[in-house]
Amino acid sequence: MSQKMMLLSATLSSGYGVQGQAWRAPENDTRNLTDVEVQVKLAQTAERGKFAFLFAPDFPGARGDMENQAPASTLDPIVTLSVLAHETTRVGFIATGSTTYNEPYNLARQFKALDVLSRGRMGWNAVTTSDPIAVANYGEQVRPRAERYERAHEMITIVQALWGSWGEDAWVGDVDTGQFLDMDQIQPINLGGKHIASRGPLVIPPSEQGQPVVASAGGGEYGLGLAGRYASVAVGSSTYDFATTRQEREMYRSAAHQAGRDADELKYFTGFMPIMGSTVEEAIRRRMQMDEHLAPQRVPMLGQMLGLSLDASRADQPLSGPQLESARANPADPRSSRALEIAYQGWTPREILAHGVIDYAPSPVGPPEAIADYLQDAFEAGIADGFWLQQATYAIADDFVDEVVPILQKRGLYHRDYQGSTLREHLGVPRQYGQDPRVS
Ligand SMILES: Cc1cc2nc3c(=O)[nH]c(=O)nc-3n(C[C@H](O)[C@H](O)[C@H](O)COP(=O)(O)O)c2cc1C
Repeated sequence: MSQKMMLLSATLSSGYGVQGQAWRAPENDTRNLTDVEVQVKLAQTAERGKFAFLFAPDFPGARGDMENQAPASTLDPIVTLSVLAHETTRVGFIATGSTTYNEPYNLARQFKALDVLSRGRMGWNAVTTSDPIAVANYGEQVRPRAERYERAHEMITIVQALWGSWGEDAWVGDVDTGQFLDMDQIQPINLGGKHIASRGPLVIPPSEQGQPVVASAGGGEYGLGLAGRYASVAVGSSTYDFATTRQEREMYRSAAHQAGRDADELKYFTGFMPIMGSTVEEAIRRRMQMDEHLAPQRVPMLGQMLGLSLDASRADQPLSGPQLESARANPADPRSSRALEIAYQGWTPREILAHGVIDYAPSPVGPPEAIADYLQDAFEAGIADGFWLQQATYAIADDFVDEVVPILQKRGLYHRDYQGSTLREHLGVPRQYGQDPRVS
């Protein structure tokens, strides 16, 4: 199979889906928040869809309007993934772990353990943790960015060295001679920097893919420096048009090249939040049901995007002729021009919002063919190597896998089955054990 195909991933969040209101969706049980069976079912859905991985963001703290919206992060993903790894056989997992509020030995040990338990399907999304709410949980104030990233470089370097500290052929297990391990191949790393250090070795043998994949999300000059050196997966920030997303992908590729790596070793993923139904109208109706209680806060936000003064009392009345005439897309918000386009079609403010115009990622709307068309256009425009499904509710993951994936397969854009068994094989990135000798 020589034609390049798109990669897919989905989000592992609380037990409802990524939308804060998803806990009210009719198909969700309100007690799903910490129900691991729901997560197992999602992982099996992703596997049925031949997804490369499930991406588990994490935020160690209480934030947002938790009185009304389900928190996105509850259980530490590392803990949840030890269950999911056992209940699946092919799909990969990328879990978030802080480079600032961990010690290298802890991170190296936890992630490599999961990599071994999952038989080589694990990745680590290395984040620097700069939100004061999270930081306060470690008794600290936010550290300066330069310091956070200096520590992040040290962290990844030491963690990778620890991962490689049990030599690939060290496990002898010779019953006749009585030699269990070749200790010449299991040696301390004695590695330290300005902030952290570890002696090693780490007493965990290689997994089927050697060691976990490193992923990076967030971008910016510092983030690109980190991703360019170490990451096999970059998850892009919220971009809403093909040109901007393609540009971000190019920045990651050139960061990898500058670090002495092949740009193709870094796979760029961008998010999308499909709004699905058998027709556009049904998709909108479904989404409106879930978002019913968000209008008071969101209609004024839509007003700001359109340069109009809108309030929730007019959520169900189409915009008037004079309003449409004076509406302007807010140049400070990249989502505004799409909102304006939809307003011109005659939808009410509540319906415009149900098109996902203020979602965190582009939101194609409509039947499976329309979602497949969007992904085909985006992939053929070269904006990403892979697409990260942010399913508003978990039911959308099932709909997507059962209805959109077969279309993509039929069009020759997406693989019909896994070609290998490890996350590195799913991504098409090279094996690595220990540090990358090309990156000093
Ligand atoms: C798609 C995406 C996913 C992210 N996921 C997380 C996450 O799960 N946890 C987290 O703490 N930060 C997450 N981030 C934030 C970044 O990793 C990074 O911390 C942020 O962009 C700024 O960090 P800095 O101020 O230290 O540069 C994510 C960013 C993006 C774009």
